[in-house]
Amino acid sequence: QKADLTDRHHRTINYLRLSVTDRCNLRCVYCMPDEGMTFIPHREILTYEEMLHLVELCVANGIRKIRLTGGEPLVRRGIISFIDRLNRIENLKEITLTTNGVLLKEFARDLRKYGICRINVSMDTLKPEKFNAITRRPFFEKVWEGIEEAESVGMAPIKLNVVAMKGFNDDEILDFARLTYRKPYHVRFIEMMPIGAADARMKGFISSGEILERISTLGPVRRVESESMAGPAEMYILEGARGRIGLIGALSHHFCETCNRLRLTADGQLRGCLFSDRETDLKTPLREGREGPYLSALIRDAILNKPRGHDLDLNNPRKCVRPMSRIGG
Ligand code: GTP
Ligand code: 5AD
Ligand code: SF4
Repeated sequence: QKADLTDRHHRTINYLRLSVTDRCNLRCVYCMPDEGMTFIPHREILTYEEMLHLVELCVANGIRKIRLTGGEPLVRRGIISFIDRLNRIENLKEITLTTNGVLLKEFARDLRKYGICRINVSMDTLKPEKFNAITRRPFFEKVWEGIEEAESVGMAPIKLNVVAMKGFNDDEILDFARLTYRKPYHVRFIEMMPIGAADARMKGFISSGEILERISTLGPVRRVESESMAGPAEMYILEGARGRIGLIGALSHHFCETCNRLRLTADGQLRGCLFSDRETDLKTPLREGREGPYLSALIRDAILNKPRGHDLDLNNPRKCVRPMSRIGG
């Protein structure tokens, strides 16, 4: 099998976002409704065995980096031994994880031990009351303790994901930026995307350009290159800082042209684009007992036909059939 697959638009696809569950222990306002949502029934969720098989096929087709996502990946039972087994897949160079941090304190040491060197943690505020309002759960201290634990077991860099919301946490942009003077974290501001529960909240949208302008008032900022196989964040350093600042301009800077990723949902659907509901069903043929080459052909086809990009902007919000928590961001 040929490695290093490119799609029709000459993009090399080497990064898979694997959502291991759609369940979550938080209820972030931009992601889930207050009352939660109907979760995918357990029997529809791929077993770890099934996931491993599909990941192996993806790796045979050029995937080199995996990011585990959710819902919240740490709420799925057995995640550590799953990671341990992922780690034994030859040619898979990097396994990373995006978490809300609630269970991080308990898991950090094992995550590190079984091969997760870097993590991304969602953290939209530096204030406990606001955390409760955004996530609708009282776990502020827990998450910070988790972040510090991850730091102390040697995960680096720790990336913090801050979804920027006008009138809610935009008064904390500078505090988050100042955090990089003290801590070696990568603080990444994410433009809110009109998907799922966020649709109604787009009035609070702030662009990365505006965020950068505000941060520039603190001192000179220098643009730095991202590591290879990195995601869509544009990286900056404030003069004298230990950490970095990232801007994820999901709407204002279409990074579709350099997109290197595929997504596999917890119920076994391969998605070429976060915003496109065109999916390739891998679960059904897998459970019907189709062999590797058949599934591999489906994966190659999904890569080849990865959508060129999305056409979302502020004036053109469009509902995705799947909410964010069922895609994994
Ligand atoms: P690394 O660069 O590998 O650290 O990961 P990442 O920044 O892509 O991952 P993370 O899970 O931390 O996601 C951060 C934000 O970027 C989330 O809001 C994601 O939804 C968003 N994001 C990730 N990939 C894409 C993408 O392909 N398109 C868009 N529009 N947003 C994305
Ligand atoms: N827009 C931007 N980012 C979002 N996330 C969840 N929903 C949205 C949205 N509508 C972020 C989470 C997490 C990451 C995986 O996606 O905060 O950090
Ligand atoms: Fe959970 Fe992440 Fe959605 Fe928040 S954004 S409710 S942490 S899945």
